[in-house]
Amino acid sequence: MTTDGLITPQGGKLMINLASEAELQELQEQVSELPRIIIGPRQLADLEQLANGAYSPLQGFLKRDDYLSVINTMHLDNGLPWSIPITLPVTREQAATLTEGERIALVNDKGELYAVLTLEEKYMYNKHDEARQVYRTEDDAHPGVAVVYQQGEVLLGGPVRVVELQPQMFQQYRYTPTQTRQIFARRGWKRIVGFQTRNPVHRAHEYIQKCALEMVDGLYLHPLIGATKSDDIPAEVRMRCYEVLLNNYYPADRAILGVLPAAMRYAGPREAIFHALMRKNYGCSHFIVGRDHAGVGNYYGTYDAHKIFAEFDPQKLGITPLFFDHTFYCRQCEGMASAKTCPHGSDAHVTLSGTRVRQMLQSGIIPPSEFTRPQVAKVLIEAMQQQA
Ligand code: ADX
Repeated sequence: MTTDGLITPQGGKLMINLASEAELQELQEQVSELPRIIIGPRQLADLEQLANGAYSPLQGFLKRDDYLSVINTMHLDNGLPWSIPITLPVTREQAATLTEGERIALVNDKGELYAVLTLEEKYMYNKHDEARQVYRTEDDAHPGVAVVYQQGEVLLGGPVRVVELQPQMFQQYRYTPTQTRQIFARRGWKRIVGFQTRNPVHRAHEYIQKCALEMVDGLYLHPLIGATKSDDIPAEVRMRCYEVLLNNYYPADRAILGVLPAAMRYAGPREAIFHALMRKNYGCSHFIVGRDHAGVGNYYGTYDAHKIFAEFDPQKLGITPLFFDHTFYCRQCEGMASAKTCPHGSDAHVTLSGTRVRQMLQSGIIPPSEFTRPQVAKVLIEAMQQQA
């Protein structure tokens, strides 16, 4: 526990890999001499997380021992849980121009400097092993696996110093772990439940958040706003849904909305662990894991993301998962329920597939209020009409 009574970050303290003023000046002077690599949105998002401490205890992109340990054992080489490899892939041709030991400027496609990497190792890796271990499939139709197959063949490992962050969307919601910890402490919260989401908020989300909120001091609603697959609803629309919901249905002093800049991996159970560890760094003591957390298609069992927690030492994980079964509105119970609380058959349950909901919204039809709040549906309908 930290002095303010909050959960200790992964590895003991927040690892903030942001260049200091003095370093910044030195780096800016040297940058024109350094080899440069253009990096894409996923690595830019990783840099932000490395800079703000959300990836504690990482100091940069994984080196070989850590990489292999993460993909094979879900732990860093030092034994700390870490389930998703954070890597910087480049092509063989790019790698051939780089020398271990040198510093490399990481720039965006406009040539703007974001970070400097000290290249400690460049190494080959097996994409199929990574796909099998991390995503439990080698199928390139899986969006996370597809990213791995498309990326370069060589990984660059070493610590980074981040000098500049991307122009920021959702600035007012972009709290760093240091800031969320300050906010939680100011409010006197000790037990905070984190909620990950990449979808528009519906009644099942609200139900499980509020069930959890009955047991803890506060809720940290933490939608992911990094890259998602093309058919997911854009983050700005999802955020508008959350604003409407919070303004109307949540006590202002019990819930905080912030954004998680990470990219979505769709790695199901492994990503549930990763999501939990990041929220631990933001100061959450508890983390909600519902049905098919971070899943996609039929690659994972409904509760695989619950089961994987049993493979970790709870002490080392630190954050406590709160598991929820599939929840739905039951007409007989006249409320939200799950198989754990409802004795009625599925004909009493209001369940709609994502595809059906989308069709309804696209045609301007508000889905049943037992499924989604009408105010939220209106935001979604408006967004879809603007898009069309
Ligand atoms: S996710 O990729 O971020 O997991 P989503 O935004 O749909 O997708 O889910 C956010 C959280 O709510 C996850 O923990 C997920 O398991 C949970 N969840 C979503 N729908 C339900 C539901 N109907 N019943 C129980 N849990 C759910």
